[in-house]
Amino acid sequence: DVPVLTIDGPSGSGKGTISRLVANALGWHYLDSGALYRAVGLAAAWESVDLSDAEAVATCARRTKLAFKGGDKNSEPRLLVNGVDATDEIRTETAGAAASAIAALPEVRDALLDVQRNFRKLPGLVADGRDMGTVIFPDAQVKVFLDASAEERAQRRYKQLKNKGISVTLAGLLGEIVARDARDANRAIAPLKAASDAVVIDTTGLDIDTVVAQVLSLMTP
Ligand code: CDP
Repeated sequence: DVPVLTIDGPSGSGKGTISRLVANALGWHYLDSGALYRAVGLAAAWESVDLSDAEAVATCARRTKLAFKGGDKNSEPRLLVNGVDATDEIRTETAGAAASAIAALPEVRDALLDVQRNFRKLPGLVADGRDMGTVIFPDAQVKVFLDASAEERAQRRYKQLKNKGISVTLAGLLGEIVARDARDANRAIAPLKAASDAVVIDTTGLDIDTVVAQVLSLMTP
């Protein structure tokens, strides 16, 4: 079996950065599943699809061509949505909110099931998301659940967006993060929760290198 390391957690827990660095250290492939939901949310918006029409959004998800290009330990891969580079556009809070809305639709999650499982290739896969260890790769060899206080997660996201020149307020971000967490945790399908066999790491106050080292230490028997 192709080995998989799943890294799940809420928004701002550091999943993206940690997953990318761990994948790079292992020389494994990297799946950013959140980017797929963000891309579908965006494609639906581009095509003026009604986000509450589950079948229409699922059709859009099946039709949308998604391709990651490049990426290494210093940069996230570019994401092409129907051939258009949407790497920056998918990171806006608007796209995040659209992603969270369509991610609650079972038909949409279903449409993305095989897309995600197809990333499982030798020598191995680091899969980053909300339900990687619970739904998509329940047989993963190692499962990690990253968490951090809402305040710290809002701070991290604030810095990240500021570096990208996107202007937001910390209070506004905190409100959005808390609202998105609640929606992700309370939805009927694939709610955000740690798999029963996941190692939970609270990253509040920990720097990136420390968390990467902790995750990598789980990979050596
Ligand atoms: O970057 P951040 O952690 O804020 O979000 P993301 O990982 O890019 O995911 C955006 C949204 O997609 C989340 O709020 C979830 O609602 C949804 N999502 C999901 O339902 N399942 C996944 N495996 C990944 C993301």
